[in-house]
Amino acid sequence: MSALKPLIAGNWKMVGLPADLKSFADAMRAWSGGSRGGLLICPPATLLAAAVQAFDGLPIAVGGQDCHAKASGAHTGDIAAPMIAAAGGTFVIVGHSERRADHGETDAQVKAKAEAALAAGLTPIICIGESLAQRQAGETLAVVEASLRGSLPSGDLARVVVAYEPVWAIGTGLTANADQIAEVHAHLRKVLLSIDGTGAAVKLLYGGSVKPGNAAEILATPDVNGVLVGGASLVAADFQAIASAC
Ligand code: G3P
Repeated sequence: MSALKPLIAGNWKMVGLPADLKSFADAMRAWSGGSRGGLLICPPATLLAAAVQAFDGLPIAVGGQDCHAKASGAHTGDIAAPMIAAAGGTFVIVGHSERRADHGETDAQVKAKAEAALAAGLTPIICIGESLAQRQAGETLAVVEASLRGSLPSGDLARVVVAYEPVWAIGTGLTANADQIAEVHAHLRKVLLSIDGTGAAVKLLYGGSVKPGNAAEILATPDVNGVLVGGASLVAADFQAIASAC
């Protein structure tokens, strides 16, 4: 088991209304279980401040799902990292494959977002992953390495988290198997260490159809320091089961 404290993160994506947050928070407050890991929920931006309040007194951090590369400006609809921090957020997901697809986000843009997050005191969770076609073509390690190198902020990596999310496993019910996860995470760790010694402190999360039934095996995989959970994080009982698995 890695010496790094696991991070169990939930990405609610574009799902969640105040009533959903309340029932989730009530269930987490009533939970008699626990986790060896740190817990994090990234709700829609409209719920971020309310989530900080709802989780008050609970060991659950709150994060954003994206941030702009600038700290403020004429960018209608965007959210700046300092705004996430001011609302009580401590993490922010950047470069999720859904944003790379929907908004054409590039590695360079993700790097700038990660740097803006760090400047605002947030921990960026940088998402990378290959498509099914790239995996089938045997290009996975090259693709994730190039994306990691292009998306990493300059300087100290100790406050960076990386999430390996094979695009073909997101929301599909298909999960990368332990060997596939171990191979990619080992390669990412090697790349991080080759860039900077602080690469040893980077938590590597796996994301892509993490469920209560597969979480224990995934979390026990070498160089897996946590998970980034989508659908299952919307259900308190499932999130608790996953959190208990580490
Ligand atoms: O960011 C986590 C997400 O992409 C994974 O989604 O529903 O496959 O757990 P899901």
